[in-house]
Amino acid sequence: TKPKEPELPLFFGWFLLPEEEERIKCATMDFLKTLDTLEAFKEHISEFTGEAEKEVDLEQYFQNPLHLHCTTKFCDYGKAEGAKEYAELQVVKESLAKSDELSVTALIVTPRIFGARVALTETQMKLWPEGEDKEGVAPALMPSVEALPMGSRAHVTLGCSAGVEAVQTGLDLLEILALQKEGKEGTQVEMDLGTLSYLSEGRWFLTLREPITADTTFSSFSD
Ligand code: A2P
Repeated sequence: TKPKEPELPLFFGWFLLPEEEERIKCATMDFLKTLDTLEAFKEHISEFTGEAEKEVDLEQYFQNPLHLHCTTKFCDYGKAEGAKEYAELQVVKESLAKSDELSVTALIVTPRIFGARVALTETQMKLWPEGEDKEGVAPALMPSVEALPMGSRAHVTLGCSAGVEAVQTGLDLLEILALQKEGKEGTQVEMDLGTLSYLSEGRWFLTLREPITADTTFSSFSD
């Protein structure tokens, strides 16, 4: 009998160190607390609540994920296409358990998710699987996504609204980047952390004045 193949994980990614996780959660929660008090946000509240006059507490609205991380490859225990090939890459094997610093350059809020955009370095791009940006993207959005630089989907999911899966963060981020590229940015509001812009249908994008960095470890994760 052949030796049993090593099992593939649920996903690979950069995991924030526990103390970094706390720091990022605090900083980003402060942003949420401010966002739902802004007049510009209140004008579009119905996109979150379904009703114009209702208030929303964004801190309650989003549920925190267990461990903050930036997924590189979703393997689904080997069911995802290219999972085995990715796990066998030399650069992946060499990077496991290594420390790395991630740079968060923007925060996004939609009625579905709360997330952080990650700007990957050239070295980090080596761990970003080719074609991963396009995984699960709706056909209508595909041409816009293909026009974005590789790694545009890199992010940390900070929260999901009830019934929404974390995979939505990357998809909403791509949609926002595509709209920005088409010049479809609306209202802009200056905030302490940076410039907030509105992109229709409850989509908000905060470009950080200063990137937020976070120390991480590259690792695989299985439930
Ligand atoms: P994300 O990386 O956007 O946070 P789950 O707990 O839903 O099984 O997902 C585990 C992790 O894998 C999450 O971080 C999630 O989203 C990511 N993920 C789940 N499904 C996919 C997918 N189809 N493509 C890419 N990433 C996924």
